[in-house]
Formats: sequence, C-alpha cells, structure tokens
Amino acid sequence: MRKVAVVLTLALAVAFAAFWFVTAPEQAGATVSEGAPDLDNGRTVFFAGGCASCHATPDQPDRTLLGGGHALASPVGNFVAPNISPDLQHGIGAWTQEQFASALLKGVSPRGRHYYPAFPYTAYQHMKSEDVRDLFAFIQTLPATGQTNPGHDFPLDLAIVRRGMGLWKLINFRGEPYDDPAADPQLVRGRYLVEALGHCGECHSPRDITGAVAEDRLYAGGKLPDGDSVPNITPGKGGIGEWTQEDLVFFFEDGTTPEGDVTGGEMASVIANTSQLPEADRQAMAAYLKSLPAREAP
Ligand code: HEC
Ligand code: HEC
Repeated sequence: MRKVAVVLTLALAVAFAAFWFVTAPEQAGATVSEGAPDLDNGRTVFFAGGCASCHATPDQPDRTLLGGGHALASPVGNFVAPNISPDLQHGIGAWTQEQFASALLKGVSPRGRHYYPAFPYTAYQHMKSEDVRDLFAFIQTLPATGQTNPGHDFPLDLAIVRRGMGLWKLINFRGEPYDDPAADPQLVRGRYLVEALGHCGECHSPRDITGAVAEDRLYAGGKLPDGDSVPNITPGKGGIGEWTQEDLVFFFEDGTTPEGDVTGGEMASVIANTSQLPEADRQAMAAYLKSLPAREAP
C-alpha cells in the first residue's frame, strides 16, 4: 500500500513539474523597435486593431478613453476588459514598451502571467514591432483615467487556470512573426489588416474543440457566445461573393450593405474603427477578402 502511495505521489509530482515546465510564460524575446515613433501610424494601428471596441469606457462617446469595463461574454463566463489608458496607477502609464510588446505579441503580463485569449493576442502576435512601438506611443497620448473595474466574472478565474493557458497556447499559439509570401503588396497589407490587426476571424470563423479559431475554415462564418450567427465573409455560399470590392470599401466606411441595410451590434463597433482608417487600407482589406478561397459556412 505504502509503495503505491509513494509511486502515486511521485507520479503526481512529476506530472505537476511537467505541467509547470510546459506552461511557463515566455516573457523575454518580444522584440522592440528602436527609433522615434510615428504617431499617425500608431493611430491607424489602434483603429485597425480595434482596441477601442473592448477597452473604451462603455456608454460614453469618446473611443479613445480607454478605462475598460466592457464585459465580453464567453461560454465560461464574462471577461472584463481592463483599463489600458495611460493612468500611472490603474492603466498602463507606467509600462515599458517591452512589457507592452510582451502583452500583445506573447500574451504575457508584466508580472509574468498568461493572459486569457479573450484578449485577441492570437492575432496580435503577428504585429510588426514598429507597429507595436507606434501604437504604444499613441496610447500614451490619450486621456488618462483612474477608472477601476470589477474582475473577470467566471468561477474558474484561478491562478492555476491562468497558468494552464500555457497548455492552450502550446496547441494554439506560435508567436511567430507574420510573414506573407504573396507578391501583391495590396493583398499583403490587406491580410495584415484583417488577420494580424482586425482579428476578423475571431467572430467570423467556426471554432475547434479547444475554442480556437478553426484555421481550415477561417472566415467561413461563426457564432457569437449568445448563439447569434456571424456571416461568412469569404466569396463562398452565403458570403460576400456578390459584393464588389467597392461595396466592401463602402461598408467599412459607413456600415451600409449593398442592400442598403445598416449593420448593427458587434459589427457596428468594428465599423466605428474601420471608418477611421485611411482609404487605401479599406481598399486593401476589401481586396484581401475578395481574394480568399470560397469556403462554406459550417
Ligand atoms: C475582444 C476584446 C479585446 C480587444 C479587441 C483588445 N483587448 Fe486588450 N484585453 C482584453 C481582455 C479581456 C484583457 C484581459 C485579459 C486577461 O485578464 O487575461 C485585455 C488585456 C489587455 C492588456 C493587459 C492590461 C493589463 O492590465 O494587464 C493590454 C495592454 C491590452 N489588452 C491592450 C490592447 C490593445 C493595445 C488592443 C488593440 C490592439 C487590445 N488590447 C484589444 C480584451 C481585448
Ligand atoms: C466582435 C465580432 C466581429 C468582429 C471582430 C468582426 N465582425 Fe464582421 N460582422 C459581425 C456580425 C455579428 C455581423 C452581422 C451584422 C449584421 O447582421 O448586421 C458582421 C458582418 C460583417 C460583414 C457583412 C456580411 C454580410 O453578408 O452582411 C462583413 C463584410 C464583415 N462583417 C467584415 C468584417 C471584417 C473585415 C472584420 C475585421 C476588420 C470584421 N467583420 C470583424 C461580427 C464581427
């Protein structure tokens, strides 16, 4: 009996050590860009990345007031977006560029903990380091607010679950820089805007069993946590095959579909971002969506 207990204890200890080892947050290595930041580009990255959709203080008009507090529903409970305004105490005013880069590119906090992927770093991991630098500098110019928010609202928000996100990342997260072999610079830009920044696939794709976006059916249509379906945005059936590139550009500018409907809900908040982008960027996003292989909605 005692022998069994010893063996079991040892096995558990080994399993735990293995868990601890493989889930270790990788903190170092988020590249930082030298040189003076370009604030105009930082603003573009901010809107292309849709940071305001989650981090802007709800129920007030200023999308650059990043007090947080927006609740994100998920099957396991609600995540609450934190304050990322330049407030020294309650926001990220005291952060270094390295810490900011680790958060966006590695999903790791300054205290060395994993973030939950409700923060879409699975997309942002592909950001260019100059864009991270410019975005960080731009956020530092925005109004600071000392707003505090309630914590995440789900029963499993425990240190061990956070640590366990390391396992999820092992399967779903590579942290590789974004590299696109496609030759056409407009399509390269479009893919970067849609995938690395706009995280459009987070809503517009089905998910696999681990809750990650199903790579082979990217953009084929998805479901919001409340069960509402999100349209296919490939040229496949039920998708944007009938839309012209200009239709899409117009949609990204003011949210009106070719049928003359004005988009609502979650997509309205996305349009509030894409409407702030340079025209050439809306064109690039539209060209990229039109170039996607036709995929069928699940
Ligand atoms: C879909 C919603 C969503 C979007 C879009 C989003 N975030 Fe977040 N963000 C979150 C959530 C939720 C957390 C908290 C994650 C956690 O606690 O593990 C977070 C955490 C953060 C943190 C860490 C804050 C802290 O106090 O530790 C930073 C920095 C951040 N986000 C920056 C950004 C930037 C910059 C953008 C735009 C490029 C962005 N986020 C877009 C939801 C979002
Ligand atoms: C937070 C979830 C969410 C994100 C992120 C999101 N969308 Fe959407 N999108 C929706 C929903 C929901 C609709 C349907 C809106 C409606 O019915 O009015 C929609 C509609 C659309 C449509 C219209 C499709 C049709 O057939 O009517 C297009 C095009 C589109 N989105 C493109 C994008 C692009 C490009 C991005 C990234 C920049 C994006 N979406 C990001 C949720 C999202």
